[in-house]
Amino acid sequence: MIKVRDLIDPTDFSTDEINEILILAQDMEKNPERYSNLCSGKILAALFYEPSTRTRLSFEAAMLRLGGRIIGFSEPNSTSISKGESLEDTIKIISCYSDIIAIRHPQEGSAKRASLYSDVPVINAGDGANQHPTQTLTDLSTIQNLKGRLSNLTVGLCGDLKFGRTVHSLIKALSRYSNNKIILISPDELKIPDYIKEEALKNTSMEIQEVKSLEEVIDNLDILYMTRIQKERFSSEEEYLRLKDSYILTKEKLKNAKDDMLVLHPLPRVNEIHPEIDLDKRAAYFKQARYGMYVRMALISKLLGVI
Ligand code: CP
Repeated sequence: MIKVRDLIDPTDFSTDEINEILILAQDMEKNPERYSNLCSGKILAALFYEPSTRTRLSFEAAMLRLGGRIIGFSEPNSTSISKGESLEDTIKIISCYSDIIAIRHPQEGSAKRASLYSDVPVINAGDGANQHPTQTLTDLSTIQNLKGRLSNLTVGLCGDLKFGRTVHSLIKALSRYSNNKIILISPDELKIPDYIKEEALKNTSMEIQEVKSLEEVIDNLDILYMTRIQKERFSSEEEYLRLKDSYILTKEKLKNAKDDMLVLHPLPRVNEIHPEIDLDKRAAYFKQARYGMYVRMALISKLLGVI
C-alpha cells in the first residue's frame, strides 16, 4: 500500500511500492476495460512551464483512459503567471480545482516547492536539470517488461549526463537493485554532477565506471540509454555546437553490441540515434514511450487512492 502523497524524487517510493506500480501498469495494459472508470469524477491538472510531448500527453492520455478529466496549461504565458503570479500562489489555486497535479518547471526544486503549497498530490514531471521520476518509472517498466529483471544489469548512460535529468533519476533508482553496474559515457564537459553520483551511491555498493568512448564499452552493455544534448540548458551556443554531435549511434557501432542489448532513449532525440536503428530489434525507445502511459495510469491511481 503506497503511503507517500507526492512523487518528487525517484526514491520517494520503496522498491516494493515501485514493484506494485509496475505490476499494476502491466495489468492496465492487458485489461484496459477493468480500469476505464477508476478515476471517474477526478481531475488531473497538468502544469507545463516547459515544452513536452511525451510526459504531458501521456499524463493526459493516462487520466482520460482512467475515466478522469484534465485541466492545465502548456503555455504559462497565457496564464496569470505572465502577470507575476508566484509558483506558490498558482499551486494553491490549482489545488482547489483538481485532485492531483503533474508539474514540469525549468527550476530545480520547483516540484518540491509546489508540493509544500498543494492540498493534493504533486507529481514531478521534470524540474530543471534535477530529476524526472516518472520517466524513471517508464524506464524501469520498459526494462522489467523487456529484460524481465531490474538487477544484474550493465547499463551504459550516454550523452549529456550533466543536464540530463532522466539519467539523474535513473541512476538513483537502479542503485537500489542488486548487482547493477553503471557505465557513464560522456565528454568531460557533460559529466554527471558529483552530487548526483554521491546521492546515488549513498546506500549502495553499485559499481560506477566513467568513460568517454561509447565504442570502448558497447560490447559489455545489457542496456544502452542514449540521451539528447540539452541545448536549452547551455549558457553558450558555441559550447553546445561543439558538443552536440558527441555521440551518434549508427548501425556500424551497434554491430559490436550484444544481440539482446536494449537501446533506450527518453526522447525527444535530435541526431544521437540514427533513424536506421529504428528497425533494429534492439531499439526499444518507441515501446518505452508507450509503457510510460500505462505506468502513469498506475501512478495516478495509486496516488489518488482509488485502487
Ligand atoms: N521524455 C520526456 O520527458 O519527453 P518530453 O520532454 O517530450 O515530455
